[in-house]
Amino acid sequence: MSDHRDISTAADRQRWDQRYRDGAYAERLWPSAYLQHLVDEGITPAAGRALDVACGRGRNSLYLASQGFAVDAVDVAPVAIAQAANSAVAQGLRARWQCRDMLTATNPVPAQAYALIVMFRFVAPTLIPHLLEGLAPNGVLVVEEHLQWPQSDSASIAGPLAGPSSDRFRVAPEELRDQLLGASTSAGIEYDVLDQYEGLIAEATEDHPDANAAVSRMCIRCRSQ
Ligand SMILES: C[S@@+](CC[C@H](N)C(=O)[O-])C[C@H]1O[C@@H](n2cnc3c(N)ncnc32)[C@H](O)[C@@H]1O
Repeated sequence: MSDHRDISTAADRQRWDQRYRDGAYAERLWPSAYLQHLVDEGITPAAGRALDVACGRGRNSLYLASQGFAVDAVDVAPVAIAQAANSAVAQGLRARWQCRDMLTATNPVPAQAYALIVMFRFVAPTLIPHLLEGLAPNGVLVVEEHLQWPQSDSASIAGPLAGPSSDRFRVAPEELRDQLLGASTSAGIEYDVLDQYEGLIAEATEDHPDANAAVSRMCIRCRSQ
């Protein structure tokens, strides 16, 4: 997980590229169960333009494309984008794959352009205002981050805790909610909370079928102004 607060983006790109070359997330090809749930339940819009921020190997971009969204998928790591584009070809799906640094771009997200924006597991508080501004009226934003989880509690859960070992790459409790609230107040953008959750979820890995992840999730809908 990236944290722009203490890693330069050039170094970040190299680090992530190396991780993808080494096979990072090669086994995690299925889309987020949470995103699938939101789509299945009609909580997201049914179609339209979608943006997947820090898309990695494109698991969620490909899923949204398969559901009929016109997907823009952005990541800083060229290796990840290449792998995602190859998967799209193999699956007969289309997306606009873009290798771009979302943290240094002047206008990282076009204004009021997207019916749906998703950002999974990329801690980037400075992007939050841009994501809100990128939502079309009634557009939906879905953000999921790893949540800081006390070591003392980790010992009491059945399986291992998945995700980054450092709290630098996790959000604190209620941090995501506060970021959204702060950004919306500054920009004068109002929203309704459609879903929010902080806590443990089952997240099996190849090595640990009993693994858990601690996550902070929010799904909000921008009110038409
Ligand atoms: C933990 S991965 C999550 C990937 C994907 N969202 C998923 O859930 O499978 C974090 C991603 O953030 C990307 N990333 C890091 N810094 C970035 C930046 N400045 N701009 C865009 N993407 C970035 C990395 O390349 C990596 O793919």
